[in-house]
Amino acid sequence: MSSNALPGGRAASAPILGHEIEPTVFEMSVAGRSAYQLRTTGVPATPLDELVPAAHLNPEVVALAEVSERDLVAHYTRLTHRQFSVDLGAYPLGSCTMKYNPKFCDAVAADPGLNSVHPGAPAELTQGWLELLVTLEEKLCAVTGMAAATLQPSAGAAGELTGLLLMRAFHNANGDPRSRVLIPDSAHGTNPASVTLGGYEVTTIPSNDRGLVDLAALKAALGPDVAGIMLTNPNTVGLFEEEITEIAAAVHDAGGLLYYDGANLNAILGVVRPGDMGFDIVHMNLHKTFATPHGGGGPGAGPVAVSARLAQFLPGPKATRVEKDWYDWVKPAKSIGRVHAWHGNAMVLARALAYIEVHGGDGLTRVAQRAVLNANWLRSRLSATLPAAYDRVCMHECVLTAAPLKAKYGVRGLDVAKGLLEEGFHSPTVYFPLIVDEALMFEPTETESLQTLEALAEAIERIEKRASNDPESLHRAPQTTPVSRVDEARAARHLIPTEDAASR
Ligand SMILES: Cc1ncc(COP(=O)(O)O)c(C=O)c1O
Repeated sequence: MSSNALPGGRAASAPILGHEIEPTVFEMSVAGRSAYQLRTTGVPATPLDELVPAAHLNPEVVALAEVSERDLVAHYTRLTHRQFSVDLGAYPLGSCTMKYNPKFCDAVAADPGLNSVHPGAPAELTQGWLELLVTLEEKLCAVTGMAAATLQPSAGAAGELTGLLLMRAFHNANGDPRSRVLIPDSAHGTNPASVTLGGYEVTTIPSNDRGLVDLAALKAALGPDVAGIMLTNPNTVGLFEEEITEIAAAVHDAGGLLYYDGANLNAILGVVRPGDMGFDIVHMNLHKTFATPHGGGGPGAGPVAVSARLAQFLPGPKATRVEKDWYDWVKPAKSIGRVHAWHGNAMVLARALAYIEVHGGDGLTRVAQRAVLNANWLRSRLSATLPAAYDRVCMHECVLTAAPLKAKYGVRGLDVAKGLLEEGFHSPTVYFPLIVDEALMFEPTETESLQTLEALAEAIERIEKRASNDPESLHRAPQTTPVSRVDEARAARHLIPTEDAASR
């Protein structure tokens, strides 16, 4: 943007594409402007220091941006136009379930009857909210085949930690504290982190050449010090652990518990239940499967459902049906205590219940069936360009490899992902799971049409052609986006979280 001839802030109009850097609100600031208007009233003005004790007043004036509502709206609208989003187009970011979320769920969460209630309001004034929470708990238990659930955790990783604390409470209550938790080498990075935070040691179990848990290695690792196993099913390679009932029997025989990382629940909704597979603890990412987008830094919800023998340890107090039509806050007998302020991210919970109610059991089953169908269609359609890491039927996502493109043209998975941005698609997840060379993990989700999947496949074929003709151009991609290729390693290693980062 060219600088203004007039003194003061920058203009509200600026190109939304190209290489222009969006000014910060501070650069747009002009002393005396404000984004609000207060009506003049007959109420006499009272100086602030008469209302607030001196000890609570900041002696220095805080330098806030002074911008008009008009400029502020232009600024944020321009920023949203420079982003990719689930509302804008296909977002096949594997392991994240970035599906389109129905707008009616937003409408439910925006209902003033729900969003204007203070979380500290007493139970007799909030029966509607309590009923909503209890109903959601019941639905999530029905989906997972579990007995009870906490809705407090605010993300998948928070659910994992809660689950491990429940595992610990269970073993301690039995006078049998244990020290190790088993995790397959394909696991999501949050799993070992949560095990460590939960005070356990990680024992890694290798995958076999079919991308599944190596059962013999698992059995060899079991012992009286094993508290349990954390498994993702379908696993992070997008494959269903076919020997799950045998795994469950072996872990239970050794006195351990089975933890189900249900972040990939989109694949199995209404088809198979973790409880029926033998799991004792399940976390769900409502912000993936149930109408809230994952990522983007917004609030999430990672409820944890458990089998009957673990229900007394759940966080609390929790919304509970105490009589036929009456609800209250009740703390489970041996509760591990709170894991979140108030009742969790309540609006995400309201959206999830709306999503479940509107789909119904048959609708949820169709979600999973279409998610799996779409991933397999894409895997099969792309087999000549990006072969699957494991040539088998996959679940809701497929892990492909750019290793042949690298060998032939020196074009890596990252280059393919960046090239896709120029084609108008969000990138797949790259280099995860770690056990696959040049991994590209696509999760098309059930919300994308056959036409969109075909367009995605054609875009990847164009990228392959470009790789053979002009590999250099892919190393520089993307060139048509507001931000071109960034040095991601440098950004992670030298984080400068200040507004003047660009000048350093
Ligand atoms: C398999 C798996 N487990 C755990 C998580 C962690 O969830 P969150 O990002 O909500 O903490 C994710 C994230 O997508 C995941 O894919």
